[in-house]
Amino acid sequence: MTVSREIPVATSSPYTVTVGQDLLPDVAASVPESAARVLVVSAAPLRSQVDALHRLLEERGLTVVVAEVPDAEAGKTAEVLAFCWQVLGKSDFTRSDIVIGLGGGAVTDLAGFVAATWLRGVGVIQVPTTLLAMVDAAVGGKTGINTTEGKNLVGAFHEPLSVWCDTRVLDALPRHDIVAGLAEVVKCGFIKDEEILRIVEDNLALLRADDAQTGSRADGHGSTAGLDEEARTVLTELIGRAVQVKADVVAADLKESFLREILNYGHTFGHAIEYTERYQWRHGAAVSVGMVFAAELAHLAGRLSEDEVERHRAILSGLGLPVSYPGHRWDALLTAMRRDKKTRGDLLRFVILAGIGNPVRLEGPDPALVQAAYAAISDHSPA
Ligand SMILES: NC(=O)c1ccc[n+]([C@@H]2O[C@H](COP(=O)([O-])OP(=O)(O)OC[C@H]3O[C@@H](n4cnc5c(N)ncnc54)[C@H](O)[C@@H]3O)[C@@H](O)[C@H]2O)c1
Ligand SMILES: [Zn+2]
Repeated sequence: MTVSREIPVATSSPYTVTVGQDLLPDVAASVPESAARVLVVSAAPLRSQVDALHRLLEERGLTVVVAEVPDAEAGKTAEVLAFCWQVLGKSDFTRSDIVIGLGGGAVTDLAGFVAATWLRGVGVIQVPTTLLAMVDAAVGGKTGINTTEGKNLVGAFHEPLSVWCDTRVLDALPRHDIVAGLAEVVKCGFIKDEEILRIVEDNLALLRADDAQTGSRADGHGSTAGLDEEARTVLTELIGRAVQVKADVVAADLKESFLREILNYGHTFGHAIEYTERYQWRHGAAVSVGMVFAAELAHLAGRLSEDEVERHRAILSGLGLPVSYPGHRWDALLTAMRRDKKTRGDLLRFVILAGIGNPVRLEGPDPALVQAAYAAISDHSPA
């Protein structure tokens, strides 16, 4: 039996992230006594989980309304948001009622924003069901939707009442999505908790995606994770540690600033890949390449040793994540990096490591250095 872990997030309204198994009864029990109604926001792939939660909430005497929204990014739109408001209005939702987001990061982002905006803020309980949502999207209070102008441009900070990461639901997730989520876990290892790196290094065979390298979603979904007890134990530990890293960062600094920026390690170049690939790459795969790029950049800037750069490659490729990117795309990548919201004016900004666990900002580096880092991760094999 895997033990569960509880991670306190010490923000202005503190809450707890629980990582464990079969947590739906705890989720239902956590709805405050003052609530009479619950809106469950979810998407079709999670229907059986929603049904189980529905029953548990009704057993508690709560009135349950389910908003099944379009899956993935299709759910993060103004139209879907308006639909959720309509459901809340028709159900006479009051300030003491509760929203539960059950799904991947798209659902938790939407559910959080629904809760942030209804009556200027009602409570939200997050039940993330992908590894990425557990270690990133559902923790930290950022919520929002996409617009035709871009992703995540409209949103609000709205901390959840609690977050429940049930590793049992990861069984149904394609192994490639688990591995893509692990890129963010490894990121937490590089920026703040080296023990994460040691655990991943010791368990590469258990965690890796074997059939093909995790990259574009067009790779197909591959097999589902079907985690065994050993993998579940390791993942519980890793999720707990990654959540702890994010919790420490957001507790110290809820709004954007450099501390929060360290969570963007590997993301400037990673976002440029996502943009260049028209969002057909998994986020974690793009961030994986982005971290190797940042490591090469740090090495060229004299901040990181060659061994530490190789450690990036060994861990990420060991998991089945990509660590290189086709050459000859410099112009497109540079343009994409310049339009990244983290860029100030024309000056490029990166988070790099001055040693493992010591992230620093690199602002306005010589473009030749940046291009050299790109050359170091370029793959010149024919496409
Ligand atoms: N708020 C934040 O701080 C933050 C941080 C990172 C990412 N995000 C957001 O998170 C979103 C990406 O999240 P994601 O990677 O979880 O993608 P997602 O929410 O689109 O989910 C991916 C797919 O997996 C399905 N799914 C979810 N859980 C499943 C399960 N247990 N078994 C089988 N299928 C399952 C989903 O229905 C969907 O089809 C993006 O919208 C991104 O902007 C937000
Ligand atoms: Zn990310």
